[in-house]
Amino acid sequence: MPFLRFRFNLTKTIGLLLMTATLSAQAQALKVVIAHRGASGYMPEHTLQAKAMAYAMGADFIEQDVVMTSDDQLIVLHDITLDRTTDVAERFPDRVREDGRYYAIDFTLAEIRQLQASEGFKIEDGEKQQDYTERFPMGKSTFSVPTLSEEIELIQGLNKSTGKNIGVYPEIKSPEFHREAGKDISTAVVKMLKSYGYTSKQDKIFLQTFSFEELQIIHEQILPAEGIELNLVQLISGVSAYPWMFEEDGMEKLSVFADGVGPDKGLVVSRSSQETSLQVTEFVARAHAAGMQVHPYTYRLDPGQVPAYADSFEDLLEIHYFRANVDGVFTDFPDRAVDFLRNR
Ligand code: G3P
Ligand code: CA
Repeated sequence: MPFLRFRFNLTKTIGLLLMTATLSAQAQALKVVIAHRGASGYMPEHTLQAKAMAYAMGADFIEQDVVMTSDDQLIVLHDITLDRTTDVAERFPDRVREDGRYYAIDFTLAEIRQLQASEGFKIEDGEKQQDYTERFPMGKSTFSVPTLSEEIELIQGLNKSTGKNIGVYPEIKSPEFHREAGKDISTAVVKMLKSYGYTSKQDKIFLQTFSFEELQIIHEQILPAEGIELNLVQLISGVSAYPWMFEEDGMEKLSVFADGVGPDKGLVVSRSSQETSLQVTEFVARAHAAGMQVHPYTYRLDPGQVPAYADSFEDLLEIHYFRANVDGVFTDFPDRAVDFLRNR
């Protein structure tokens, strides 16, 4: 009965294909997109508009870099200084420090509310030069620096109105700098997160920092004092910051304190890779073996930002998500990563 045997084999083949497709879809569903400073490729970084856009684009998590004001308010700002992304130099010229910078910690929230936020820029020959020239034009429309609570309320409000559960991904910026100024930013952030209902590892949140010393304090002291648990992520910019993390048992040791790692993407696929010879490092395998997730940063498609070993931004995503097997990426262009995972 060749026909029946064919039918049997066809059924089995279709079943196998469906199973493979399901498993593949499940594997991809576990991979996440983190909107880096919001949809910052399209709107000025860390503005509420950039966060709403990232939400609408389907990001799984939206990132907040957090610093503190002089009156102990938590604001969402990447730098500890205000001069790269606001008009502080024009509005408060006499508040500059000797190093020529304007520190957020020297300003009250009421003063920061008076600032206009914009695309990042530098001053060249006395003129503002936008860092990423293809992005949202500097000086157009009106943007401000949000507080952490405003941003959490935006995301939680959208979660209510859309029925989704999009996560937050706050980073404690320069904790040692804040401590030297007498401010315990980590405790303030953790208390605020708790007040908004983030209290367990099941909640959709990762709390990140570049400082391993601070990560330990958060894990050993601050979270237990508040009686909560949160997923913690150790950011890693390079080998020199903490060489022990790159030893064979480094990830195992780190996993005592961290649930995930956020490396510079060059630590996952070497920057000296070529299209014909990709150098995928042991980083992800070691982190996974230690039970940690891996969320590298930062994936951008501006001119010159896609490494030479990738043909395109999507090729870069393919290499990192599926050849290097990372669990998520921080990207300024969350729509492109969401589409990539959906369509693959
Ligand atoms: O936190 C992940 C990534 O944002 C780290 O880089 O400098 O943009 O905060 P940075
Ligand atoms: Ca960050």
